[in-house]
Amino acid sequence: MALSQSGSTRDHWSSRSAFILAAIGSAVGLGNLWRFPAEAGANGGGAFVLFYIGCVVLIGLPILLSETLIGRHGQASAPESVRRVASASRASPHWDILASMGVLAAFLILSFYCVVGGWVLYYIGVFFVDIFNSGISGGAFTDQSAEQIESLFPTMIGSAGWTVGLDALFLGITLYFVARGVSGGIEFVAKWLMPAFFVLLILITVYGAFGGAFNQTLEYLFTFEPEKLTGPIMLAALGQAFFSLSLGVAGMITYGSYVGRNVNLASTSALISGADTAVALIAGLCIFPIVFSAGLSVSAGPGLMFQTLPHAFQEMPFGSVVGLAFFVMVGFAALTSSVALLEVPVAWMIDKFRVVRVFSAIIVGFGALVLGALAALSFNVLSDWHPLDFIPIFEGQGFFDVLDGLTAKFFMPIGAILTALFIGWVADRKLVDIENGLGGALHLTWLALVRFVCPIALAAILVVGLLPEEE
Ligand code: PFF
Repeated sequence: MALSQSGSTRDHWSSRSAFILAAIGSAVGLGNLWRFPAEAGANGGGAFVLFYIGCVVLIGLPILLSETLIGRHGQASAPESVRRVASASRASPHWDILASMGVLAAFLILSFYCVVGGWVLYYIGVFFVDIFNSGISGGAFTDQSAEQIESLFPTMIGSAGWTVGLDALFLGITLYFVARGVSGGIEFVAKWLMPAFFVLLILITVYGAFGGAFNQTLEYLFTFEPEKLTGPIMLAALGQAFFSLSLGVAGMITYGSYVGRNVNLASTSALISGADTAVALIAGLCIFPIVFSAGLSVSAGPGLMFQTLPHAFQEMPFGSVVGLAFFVMVGFAALTSSVALLEVPVAWMIDKFRVVRVFSAIIVGFGALVLGALAALSFNVLSDWHPLDFIPIFEGQGFFDVLDGLTAKFFMPIGAILTALFIGWVADRKLVDIENGLGGALHLTWLALVRFVCPIALAAILVVGLLPEEE
């Protein structure tokens, strides 16, 4: 346990680079590799991608700085950190609602995130077995038909035993590292897995680029067709930006609370959001050429990574090795994010009930297992259960989709609006100036974004996204 600058014994990151790696580890995850390409593909490519980048720069980055600032000043769990900033600003302690909602949202996301983490484990196993069966030099899944490969995914998610079991396994691995603490567990995972992740990502992208269809991918991802930019697509891009940067759910407040005084939060936040966006774009450049050159469709949505992509590995030289490397890479990214998600409610519980970390991790983990099992079962035995059928935008959706939609469409944007209002209008200016590490014109730009652009744009996109789509 490192001693903080303030002399307290609260666990801290051992260095600035440890914080950067852990925060990038939190940001880079299934959101970048699974959700971003799926959403971009399902929402028409370029218009979605460019609007997404706009959301990251104008809304995501200012909020990321606001969240880390609250955490670093508070040096406590997310709600307590907000209360400390509020108290130093002589504001109402009830602003802590923004972080309490975040703790709940992080817990809900964790529950369905580990279900998808479990699917990744399944594919690691599938490619591992395939290497034994087909050898390493040929493509993956020799002698199997397209239907057989594509049926792997529905067969797996259709099985209650597989989905719940793998969810529990992924959650168990996450719990192990969170229980070991900030510098001993979370930092350890980030320090080893993130560099390995980057090496694999670059290798697979370069490999895919040689397979052709790179120009087609560039054109697909970066051609801006403004007429495609509908309300729901804008909300999807915003929700994706928030999910990807781990914002609006108190995650970055929590990680910021382990940062020492000597770290410049502005440049660090810029680095984190730059790296996260770069990984999302590289993931697009990695996945789409593979899919395009196999002549497959990019608009499969959530099935893109688990159904379309394995199929593409069949034709590829060394397909089973590349497939295994790909899913190991996704697994690493998912684990550094699930660890961050679990840390948010665990840190809250430690502060609130003065319990030891291991106990807190086990209790939260158990809760996430129950909710996660319900989400996993919504693909099989509970597929007819549509818990929010009475709300039009959730009509016909199973529990997994409800958790995903609730957090991305409500909790995250609302949490972010409250954060922007709190830091932009309520928090003491001197405190904010000291914490944010910005000077001159940059400071004013940030303040203008947090005060006006973020709340107005977030509220507008929230409303537009919820309006029924014109036929
Ligand atoms: N940013 C992660 C991803 O893109 O997969 C998901 C996430 C992690 C969201 C941690 C929120 C969080 F606090």
